[in-house]
Amino acid sequence: MDTIIKNISIEKIIYKGLGLARSSNGKKILIKGNVLPKSVVDLRITKSKKDFLTAEVIKIHDYDKTWVSSSTPPCGHYLNPLSEKEIGPAYGCGGCKRQVIPYDKQLLLKQQILDDSFRKIAHKISDTDIFPIMQSPQELHYRNKIEYSFGSFDSSQSQCGFHAPWRYDQIIDISHCSLILDDTNEVISLIKKILLEEYSLSCYNTNTHQWLLRHLIVRRGENTNQIMVNIVYSDKYLSSQDDIQRQKALESLSNKPELRAKVATCLITQNNSLSENISNSNNVTMLWGEWYIFEKMTFWQSEGNKWIQATFRISPFSFFQTNTSWAEVLFSEAAKHVTQQQDTILDLYCWTWSIGISLLKQGKGNFLIWIEIIQQAIDDAWENAQINWLQDKVHFVSGKAEKLFRHDEVVRLHLAKITTIIVDPPRDWLHPKVIRFLNQIKKEYNFTLLYISCNPTTLARDIDLLLDGWYSCQTIQPVDMFPQTYHIETIAVLK
Ligand SMILES: C[S@@+](CC[C@H](N)C(=O)[O-])C[C@H]1O[C@@H](n2cnc3c(N)ncnc32)[C@H](O)[C@@H]1O
Repeated sequence: MDTIIKNISIEKIIYKGLGLARSSNGKKILIKGNVLPKSVVDLRITKSKKDFLTAEVIKIHDYDKTWVSSSTPPCGHYLNPLSEKEIGPAYGCGGCKRQVIPYDKQLLLKQQILDDSFRKIAHKISDTDIFPIMQSPQELHYRNKIEYSFGSFDSSQSQCGFHAPWRYDQIIDISHCSLILDDTNEVISLIKKILLEEYSLSCYNTNTHQWLLRHLIVRRGENTNQIMVNIVYSDKYLSSQDDIQRQKALESLSNKPELRAKVATCLITQNNSLSENISNSNNVTMLWGEWYIFEKMTFWQSEGNKWIQATFRISPFSFFQTNTSWAEVLFSEAAKHVTQQQDTILDLYCWTWSIGISLLKQGKGNFLIWIEIIQQAIDDAWENAQINWLQDKVHFVSGKAEKLFRHDEVVRLHLAKITTIIVDPPRDWLHPKVIRFLNQIKKEYNFTLLYISCNPTTLARDIDLLLDGWYSCQTIQPVDMFPQTYHIETIAVLK
């Protein structure tokens, strides 16, 4: 039988948007879903672990009105925690978590979560080291990439949209997402209409692994207006009838003048594996366009006293910062800490090299060494270096940062000249070997470390380890790249 806890107060909101409360015996309760700070709720316990419980909200009794915006949430798909009928995890979109909270309060919440992480984990950081969060110029329509899933699980109707919160098998059909531009929404609606309504193509089932359509990925160069569409499918168990329908639907897509006018590149990618990950090694067919689209970013070059533009080539599987205009702000912020034109910069996790290119374009540094694990990323980066006429100023090292950082000959040769090291590691943490080596070389060499992170908890832990060595903290600067969500991006500067 379900365990219900009634009239419990939410203490605070923590990382990943979880609510935190305490049971009568002091055990932590982590609450999933859209939880408002300082509310009084009834909870259903979903898991009981040794050190904590997990729960979902089933009723809200009271909440602090100052945390609620006076205007209606901008998106009809938003899971509004204050709407009685929508309580429970499965009834709304899992994308935005905060549309009901006024933007200034969203910022306050992120600041509190970051401050708490550092207070708890990085004891050597004082409150004055942490700067106020920089707010986003756009609260909506800021995403340049969206990834929808197809499905038809609880009903016979086909859906294409985001997963319901905490449900891998439940898709919420999204007719209009307020985090992307209207133009991109129109392209998506047209594709859905052709695939799902006109040709009734089947949607992949994650339980049985049967049927056709898996994902719809749309990327956009915000400053070039180029759109790339990638339709991911599985045809492992496809009947010949389905195959004929598929061919007809793809022909129809290719022959739609409205789509051809708006979409620069349209691809279809086969993924017959159980994993959702796709890459260059999948079977990809180009319906029309080139293999890539372009994005441009503009920066102020203080030495030249002028605005300059950097161009980035984005291929179907490459990582690119999701909020272009805010990436410009983040990289300008990073440039403030690279002081000299003759600097050698080492970037340990680079992909498209957007940070490195932006720094060189801003007149910061004159040589860049780049370490990256994925060969496709190195290829993208090399293309981007050439497009921006920087090919003479870069050296690429392909492989794992934790191995190469220490052993690569070029890195070792340049160590004495490196004045800036940038680390923007994948989601979780810096590898312990990278931390050890960063601490070791700091004894001998004088450089600034810029650590860009999207996880305040692991950032605080890694910084604490670095401060055990020879570093001191200059600033911890949070920036809000993803309004309406719980994501927090931070740039930490260690000297
Ligand atoms: C958050 S992205 C960095 C994005 C980059 N700073 C930019 O703005 O384009 C993290 C990158 O680290 C790479 N990566 C993951 N593990 C790695 C490892 N062990 N060594 C080197 N690179 C790694 C990923 O392929 C990815 O390109």
